[in-house]
Amino acid sequence: MSSGIKAKVLVDRDFVIGEAGPRLYGSFVEHMARCVYGGIYEPDHGSADSMGFRTDVIDLVRELKVPIIRYPGGNFVSGYNWEDGVGPVQERPRRLDLAWHTVEPNLVGTNEFVQWARRVGAEVMLAVNLGTRGIEAAANLVEYCNRSGGSYFSDLRRSHGYQDPHRIRVFCLGNEMDGPWQIGHKTADEYGRLACETAKAMKWVDPSIELVVCGSSGRGMPTFPQWDATVLEHTYEHVDYLSLHTYYGDDELDTAEFLAKPVDMSAYIDEAVAACDFVKAKKRSRKTMYLSFDEWNVWFRHRTDDLYTMEDALVFSGMLLSLINHADRVKIGCQAQLVNAIAPIYTAKGGRAWRQTIYYPFQHASHYGRGNVLRALITSPAYDSCKHEGVPVLDGAVVHDPASGELTAFLLNRGSEPLSVEVQIRGFDGCLLVERITMAADDLRAKNTEDCPCRVIPSRVQTAECSDGGMTVLLRGYSWNVLRFSERGVA
Ligand code: AHR
Repeated sequence: MSSGIKAKVLVDRDFVIGEAGPRLYGSFVEHMARCVYGGIYEPDHGSADSMGFRTDVIDLVRELKVPIIRYPGGNFVSGYNWEDGVGPVQERPRRLDLAWHTVEPNLVGTNEFVQWARRVGAEVMLAVNLGTRGIEAAANLVEYCNRSGGSYFSDLRRSHGYQDPHRIRVFCLGNEMDGPWQIGHKTADEYGRLACETAKAMKWVDPSIELVVCGSSGRGMPTFPQWDATVLEHTYEHVDYLSLHTYYGDDELDTAEFLAKPVDMSAYIDEAVAACDFVKAKKRSRKTMYLSFDEWNVWFRHRTDDLYTMEDALVFSGMLLSLINHADRVKIGCQAQLVNAIAPIYTAKGGRAWRQTIYYPFQHASHYGRGNVLRALITSPAYDSCKHEGVPVLDGAVVHDPASGELTAFLLNRGSEPLSVEVQIRGFDGCLLVERITMAADDLRAKNTEDCPCRVIPSRVQTAECSDGGMTVLLRGYSWNVLRFSERGVA
């Protein structure tokens, strides 16, 4: 090993943090910018199917194995009438969308989106409007989607050509209701009361649904975490998840500072868990509240395009690691958004669809990050940035899938220099390295574009350093890495 910089990862089969279920690797489709229209839906495109959906996009989404997709917003949902988006398309109204200051043509609505999600192999997580609407519209939507028939809204669905219920399992009670930018913004008490009564009515229509209540729309909100605690005091026994949202990239940051951002995400999760557990204790409840991190990504609102760099992919990877390492409490994760708008998939109008830099770490985690998350004890050099002290140069997460016998270590080198990492694995007899993947770029500003869609891609590394129980690997500076081991040595 030529690098003088050393780090270590130690894992033990028995030290399990929690289970990373498939829903941790979900995404989000909002009626925003070119996510729906010109993204998943472009009827004039050469690859469009009979419903107008781009099949090249469907193929790229399928490759990600996204298990759950939140829809239709986001801020959009706070002014949305779901009834506008169902029934004969030619009769649907064109409505002003006050969230994104555009006109919504309602060519895609709940039924079309459910069909599309089925094509990509994902379940739908539907958000209801608690901005301009309330209990009745939300309960009616559950009835429309989930009752088989014999009532007004379930029969309406059937008359629209959908005989079988959509069986939506997860609903969000509004979106970012703490934000003054939200249509129908509310105080924590106003929202908490409305969310509670809406939750009760929705579960009376279908007791099997799971509900996500809005937490703060970010750790930086002045009302966090009091907002979350107040909302939970109103809703604790009626909801199943508290939502969290985070985007990094708005401030001008140097690389070290930017790469440290996921440290903030981990602190945010810990603090949200503390708010949940405070309310649990106060209510003497036996129920544990889980988290739905249903919007997260790198987002530069001031950039002229939504193209991601290698540097962005490293920050994104750190955010993924933070989610995986909190899998005991974060049970739903929705990377925001899926196509074009702050997204891993990008399309040109009438042209190609391609994978952005962030696509790859997301794909790796979605494919190999399901199972028991093992506590990764990391010894690493660290640095102080302006906002964060002791940022570890090496970050990582390790997941064991007992069913397949696979063990995967995800490792992020935040440093500019190569890093020699000793990986020690305890409790796995006969554990062999079957694949090593790395993603790095000489230029941190490198992006994948329409002309050059494969500028930043991962590659397989030939490696022979593995011995039973551990190995030492040399990670490139500024790199994302995946080490895949097989318990039985099966490739
Ligand atoms: O994902 C983009 C927007 O970011 C969402 O509409 C909103 O919820 C968040 O502020």
